[in-house]
Amino acid sequence: MRFQAVYAPAVLSLGLLVACSGGGDGEGPIVPPPPAPVEYVEKHMPSGWWGDAQKLEEGRKLFLGETNPDVNCASCHGKDGKPVKAGATDFRNPERMKLYSDAVWFWRISEGVPNTKMKGWKSKLSDDDRWKLVLFERNFGLPGKVWSVEKNQWVEAGAK
Ligand code: HEC
Repeated sequence: MRFQAVYAPAVLSLGLLVACSGGGDGEGPIVPPPPAPVEYVEKHMPSGWWGDAQKLEEGRKLFLGETNPDVNCASCHGKDGKPVKAGATDFRNPERMKLYSDAVWFWRISEGVPNTKMKGWKSKLSDDDRWKLVLFERNFGLPGKVWSVEKNQWVEAGAK
């Protein structure tokens, strides 16, 4: 009896610890994003952009704040996609990021996430710039992958 009374709390907290480290990246369990609203659901990466090194480079400069110091995604999401501000989405995790269609990704960059530090960027960035950011960010967790509209999932580039 005595043994149980002493060790039960320890076992309980160990269990909690394991449960809370679910995502494996310090962000907690992976929660799928909500579906894109109607005005975004049909939006997709402009054709020919997935393999465009120039657009990718422009996305990199935007992300790092080199193009416009007022737009510095890396100040929260980290230069290498490892968050530097608490709560910022970790783009390096393929298990999370594969749940974001290109439309959802674009929608979130455009409109932000309510009640979080992630604000909407559509007033500061053109549609093209926001697509360049999708292009760049997807390389952290889903390198070599492209969103297939037909299959409704990420597929290897060239496998379309
Ligand atoms: C002030 C800090 C901050 C800046 C700057 C910032 N973000 Fe975020 N971002 C966040 C946070 C916090 C979240 C997590 C929101 C949540 O809880 O879902 C997030 C989430 C996201 C998500 C995932 C949205 C989702 O559904 O969870 C994307 C995509 C994203 N950011 C892209 C960007 C891009 C692109 C930029 C630059 C134009 C940017 N962020 C700038 C803080 C920031």
